[in-house]
Amino acid sequence: MPEKTDPLCGLEFKSFQDWNGDRPSQTLIFHNNCSSWWIKVAVDGSLPEQALGLGSFKRRFVFQEFVEAIDFGQLQLLDDTVTTINLSLTEQSQNSITIRNGHQNPANFLIAVAHRMCCIIAEDPRRVIYPTLERQQCLPAFEARCLQTVEVVAPTVRTVLFKEQIFAYKTIDRPIYEPEDTEHVLNEINVLEQLRGLPSIAQLVGLVVSEDPYKTCPSTNSPAVITGFLLEYYPRGSLEQIFEDEFQFDALPIQWALQIGTALRSLHKRGRTHLDIKPSNIVLDANENAVLIDVSGTGGYVWEWLSPEMQAFIQQNSESSPANAPFEARVSTDCWAYGRLLSTMAEKIGTSGIGEKLQSIANALTKAVPESRISLCDALAQLNEK
Ligand SMILES: Nc1ncnc2c1ncn2[C@@H]1O[C@H](COP(=O)(O)OP(=O)(O)O)[C@@H](O)[C@H]1O
Ligand SMILES: [Mg+2]
Repeated sequence: MPEKTDPLCGLEFKSFQDWNGDRPSQTLIFHNNCSSWWIKVAVDGSLPEQALGLGSFKRRFVFQEFVEAIDFGQLQLLDDTVTTINLSLTEQSQNSITIRNGHQNPANFLIAVAHRMCCIIAEDPRRVIYPTLERQQCLPAFEARCLQTVEVVAPTVRTVLFKEQIFAYKTIDRPIYEPEDTEHVLNEINVLEQLRGLPSIAQLVGLVVSEDPYKTCPSTNSPAVITGFLLEYYPRGSLEQIFEDEFQFDALPIQWALQIGTALRSLHKRGRTHLDIKPSNIVLDANENAVLIDVSGTGGYVWEWLSPEMQAFIQQNSESSPANAPFEARVSTDCWAYGRLLSTMAEKIGTSGIGEKLQSIANALTKAVPESRISLCDALAQLNEK
């Protein structure tokens, strides 16, 4: 993506989206005399017919050339947030946008019809929401600008260096952001804070904070915002990655099953549930101990990893999510998913003694009738039997 940067005056292009083919949108920062505005330019309704014949690369080029030509200085931009500029073709020229001098390229069909484009300005309801840092917050805080990115390991997580130590940084900003994601991250911070010091659960290091990224005027005072949190880094990959690779299984799966089962029981004892137990939410530390991550209890879930009765609950309450189910039902789906996890491990191992033991406990945890399933405590006791 072209990055056009001039700190004093100019456009800094951020993400471009073109989900529906003919409805492109471009997010950018408009810098003008030391002030900066975040803007999302979107076309509401279909583009002129010429656009439809173009390939996606050319369409993007034409759209970005058009965005560059807009005179943003003439528009009533909103301070300290993201302004959306929704454009639609009309017959009259009220509220139309102005094209900058020297950019009136008639070969660009969007610039050519700019005088007929009606523009509606509003705050972007889909902007990333960064919560402000409460003064009473007693967790350690790390300045985002002091963290050096090492590697992007997932859309939401990157490894970073701080004072020569490596951490996992989970961010609120992510490629496909939904407004609820901020709430999920705050929930995760709360749960992690409550579970500090417990074995086999990811350990919270602190919050990541920065100046409000949307701040318009650098000299105004505004509270710092939370951009995410730091976790201890567990360097041996997730179980999902381990299962994909050739891996010599020995007694480790029993140890992992015990560690994850114990972590889950700690959560349940504190009135919490996980609701997204699956191989990608278990990582291994340097000594190959299993550690449970992604503990918000409210984030995403995978249909196939929900118990049959939780699936039925969601089907009957289409507006609902597992997090809204009663506590007992949530505990029960966690145990069911844990059984499925043991079964996945057993399949990887094959028909050895350990594989058969894991499979038989998995079967007992995932019986069709909830009342006939064994409890998590029973499963842990069976895993501990020699
Ligand atoms: N503390 C960590 N150490 C090592 N890898 C991690 C850590 N936290 C997350 N990851 C990696 O990032 C991925 C996504 O993290 P997760 O917290 O599950 O985010 P999401 O909510 O997007 O699923 C994990 O599957 C794992 O591979
Ligand atoms: Mg996850």
